Amino acid sequence: MSARLKLGIVGGAGWLGGAIAGAAIEAGVVHPQDLALSYRSAKPDRFPGAFWTVDNQALADRSDIIMLSVRPQDWPPLDIDAKGKLVISVMAGIRLAEVGEKHGTRRVVRSLPNAAAEVARSYTPWIASIDTTEADRAAVRAIFDACGLQDEVGSERDIDYLTGLTGSGPAFPALLAAAMMRDAVRFGLAPDVARRAVNTVLAGTGRMLERNDAEPDDTVAAFLDYRGTTAAAIETMRKEGFDEAVAKGLAAAFAKSIAMGEK
Ligand SMILES: NC(=O)c1ccc[n+]([C@@H]2O[C@H](COP(=O)([O-])OP(=O)(O)OC[C@H]3O[C@@H](n4cnc5c(N)ncnc54)[C@H](OP(=O)(O)O)[C@@H]3O)[C@@H](O)[C@H]2O)c1
Repeated sequence: MSARLKLGIVGGAGWLGGAIAGAAIEAGVVHPQDLALSYRSAKPDRFPGAFWTVDNQALADRSDIIMLSVRPQDWPPLDIDAKGKLVISVMAGIRLAEVGEKHGTRRVVRSLPNAAAEVARSYTPWIASIDTTEADRAAVRAIFDACGLQDEVGSERDIDYLTGLTGSGPAFPALLAAAMMRDAVRFGLAPDVARRAVNTVLAGTGRMLERNDAEPDDTVAAFLDYRGTTAAAIETMRKEGFDEAVAKGLAAAFAKSIAMGEK
């Protein structure tokens, strides 16, 4: 990316908007003075070099790229004219065509980062409208590469599926960690020891998976090969419906994403 990006993030005070702003600045993709962020309730102390405003049209007017990072239920009252600009939505469930129609632009990207943008480890699938230019796509790649890894996908259906798989993704290892934590405390481990143990297992697994980038089934098979305590646990968890519970959870997220777009 050689041209300077002028980026405005509506909802920049929020969790994801703030994480994306931080990652983009950290990676040098956007300079703080080219960044506009809007808030509704309270102005955060973060990013003092950026332009903070409650006026979303003022944000749009000074930006070439407008990112929508408000919760889906806060989007209908958002009145921004983005004519001639690239709009990137990170909102779950909202369709590409609706975003373009509402904000008066044909250059629209629907994306779905996740909370790990906070540590530059988000996986972000995205899809662009047909009028989106190659320069727009390069900017989108630069922003989401700064947040982790990104892929342009082939259909909005893929985005709806990935809304659960990766958009909610960090919540699932967190759910496993919470179940492990509860079990450890029930067993009688001191809570601070249990917390350090569980969090270290999760963090270590993440590093290993990132380094090896192996097929998940191969990783599990390597553990099963020992025929020891790990195999005893995995086989019991699977017999108790672990894989089915995950599949049903992901199906529920997929259905919810589609339903949110139909409202
Ligand atoms: N967090 C995730 O892991 C994640 C993952 C994938 C996708 N997303 C998507 O990202 C979007 C944001 O999620 P989030 O988790 O960052 O939510 P969040 O922390 O609640 O952030 C949303 C922010 O938008 C602000 N806001 C609402 N209306 C506004 C307006 N008219 N002008 C300016 N600011 C406004 C809110 O202000 P108040 O403080 O006044 O409420 C809040 O600070 C959602 O659409 C969600 O679907 C999030």
